[in-house]
This record gives sequence, C-alpha cells and structure tokens, in this order.
Amino acid sequence: MGKNLSIVTISLLFLLASTSAVQVFDVKSYGGQPNADITQALTKAWTAACAVAGSKVVISAGTYKLGGVSFLGPCKGAIEFNLQGTLEAPSDDASFKGKDFWVSFERIDSLTVSGSGIFDGKGQTAWQKNNCDKESDCKNLPINIRFDFITNSIVRDIQSKDSKFFHINLLGCKSLQIQHVTITAPGNSPNTDGIHIGRSSGITITDANIGTGDDCISIGDGSQDVTINQVTCGPGHGISVGSLGKYPNEQPVSGIRVIGGTLSGTTNGVRIKTWPSSPPGTASDMHFENVIMNNVANPILIDQGYCPNGQCSNKAPSKVKISNVSFKNIRGTSSTKEAVQLICSKSVPCQQVVVADVDLAFKGAGGSATSTCVNVMPTLSGKQNPPACTIKT
Ligand SMILES: *[C@@H]1O[C@H](CO)[C@@H](O)[C@H](O)[C@H]1NC(C)=O
Repeated sequence: MGKNLSIVTISLLFLLASTSAVQVFDVKSYGGQPNADITQALTKAWTAACAVAGSKVVISAGTYKLGGVSFLGPCKGAIEFNLQGTLEAPSDDASFKGKDFWVSFERIDSLTVSGSGIFDGKGQTAWQKNNCDKESDCKNLPINIRFDFITNSIVRDIQSKDSKFFHINLLGCKSLQIQHVTITAPGNSPNTDGIHIGRSSGITITDANIGTGDDCISIGDGSQDVTINQVTCGPGHGISVGSLGKYPNEQPVSGIRVIGGTLSGTTNGVRIKTWPSSPPGTASDMHFENVIMNNVANPILIDQGYCPNGQCSNKAPSKVKISNVSFKNIRGTSSTKEAVQLICSKSVPCQQVVVADVDLAFKGAGGSATSTCVNVMPTLSGKQNPPACTIKT
C-alpha cells in the first residue's frame, strides 16, 4: 500500500514537473545590469529561453538601456517576457539605421508579455524631425513595440511611453489579447498612435489606458474580429477605423466592436475615415456601443473625405464601401457643434447605418449641437440629441 502510494506520488510529481515547470531566464544571469545597456544580455536570454519549452525571460526592477532589438520565434513552447523594470530607447533615431521599430516580437505562438514595466521610447528629439504633416511619404520613425505574426498570445499590464512613432503595432496577428496596458505621450507629439492594428484577426483590447498625440487606437486594413472593451482615451484623436483607401490592394475591414470606455478631451470620438480618390475597398460590421464622451470634438464621425494637411487628390469620391455600422448609447458632451457627422461617399453611399440612443450636448456659444448626414440614410431609434440629420446634403 505504502509503496504503491509513493509510486503514485512520485509519478504525480514527475508529471507536475514535466508539465508546469517554467524555466526562468533572468537577464542578470546574462550580464544585464541596471543603468547599463542590456541589448546583448537580453538577446542572449531570449535566444536561450526560446530554445526550451515553457520559459520566462525576466527583467527585474531598475532602469536599463536597450538598443533596437528583435525577439524572434518560433520558440520551442510557450514563452513569457516579463518586464518589471524600465527599458530606455536611444533618443537619437539615427542609431536605428532606418529600422521602423525599437523592439519587435516576431513569429511567436503562445507568447505572454507581462509585468508593469515601462518601454520608454525617449521620443522628444525625434518628434521634432517628424515631417509627416508636410510629406505623405515621410520617413518612418521607430515604433516602440511591434508584434508581427504573433498568435494565441497575451500582452498585459505593460506600459509604453513617449514612443518616437506609433507605440504598439500589430501586423498579421491572430488571437491576441491585450489587457490593461498603459500608453502615454504628450497630446502634441506627432503620430504617436497608441495601438495600431493591421491585417490581424481575433484581437481583444481590454481596460487600456491611453493618452497620446494621435489616435488612441487605430484599425487599419485587413483587420477582422476586433473587440475593444472599456478603453480610457485622452488626450488623443480618439478611436479610429482607418484611414482606409490610401494604398492599392487594401484588404477588407470587418467585425469591429467598441464597447464601453470613456474618451476625454480628444479631437475625435469614434470615427471611420477613408481617403477620397481611393481604390475600391470595403469596411463592414462596425459597432460602437455604450461609449462616454467628455468634451470631445466630433464625437461620432464617418469621414469619407479624409484628407489631412491637403495630402490627397479630391478629384473623385472614396470607393471604400461602408456598411452595417451602428452607434448605440453614445453619451456625454461635445466640444464643438458638430457632434454627429456621417459624411459618406457619393460613389458608394453608406448602407445599414444605425444611430440609437445618442445624447451629446454642446455647451459652447453659437447654438446647439448638430447632426450632419451626407450620402447616408441612417435607421434611427431611441433618444436623438442632436436631432438626427439636422443638416443633410
Ligand atoms: C452586421 O454586423 C453584425 C456584427 O458583426 C453581424 O452579426 C451581422 O450579421 C451583420 N449584418 C449583416 C446584414 O451583414
């Protein structure tokens, strides 16, 4: 009896050890010290961790310098990147030698990025070199963190600060959850989008806290099945689908849900933007629900004549077809009279647009809030403040 029990215990322990043991790769063991450059140490720790099944790279509290670096998969098994300290990028963008990122994670399955540590992009000097408002083909400054072709993964609790360009960029990701991340940059820092999603599916962003100089979240072409829950946004340009239609061969956008959340002092609320004179494209099944607006300019906006800084040709209307869109229970205050603007394309009018329970007050001088409808006939229900389609063309 006793012998049997011990055999059972031993095999159970063995089973536990073989299934749940995670090997830890502390950057310290690879020579990474606070206040020093840990690019090499961290690269070595990652390479070692990636080669075993079930591993965790740890960067403990402290401030570290880190040059441009790629963490590449595929790895042997699940891998965690745990950041408790602060990583600082070189402030000089020339040291990136034209690379468009500071840190990238590429081609990894079952990745967890965790810890409440900070990716500090040190963007202050690079922002002054940003000329994207003058040249549409501007030089790309480094993105703080790129996730390229990451699947079945979680990013949680990390902080991204003062990126030189976008903070977090997803490309070709599938089944990725982003939970409770904090992203900050000054309201006047150029192109510092919080999270940009492109050509990815099954993406969930929950409880993010984002304040930057551009879109808090932007959703580019080829994004499908994206859910954004309870985002706090501001300062910034709001939550945006697009811009779409700038380039040839863009892929459809569909299945976007923005649920809950609060936007404060942003230059837009929830918006869909497409360029005029665009190639054909589609954006459908986009739903915005239960969002609070505090002093937001343009809280609800479809803009199919998007043309920042005059960088477009206005010769033809946008050919990106927008359909099955709803704005439901969007409440709060607008900082401009233009609380609701649905400006759709003359060549492909918006279809199946629902506006329900909208209550957006404008408290400034010069009359009450307005709602503009162009090339769209929305289905209305519930409260309509401003009265729907007060301005039609
Ligand atoms: C509209 O979008 C919703 C949510 O994505 C989807 O379930 C529904 O089937 C779509 N309706 C049509 C008519 O395509």
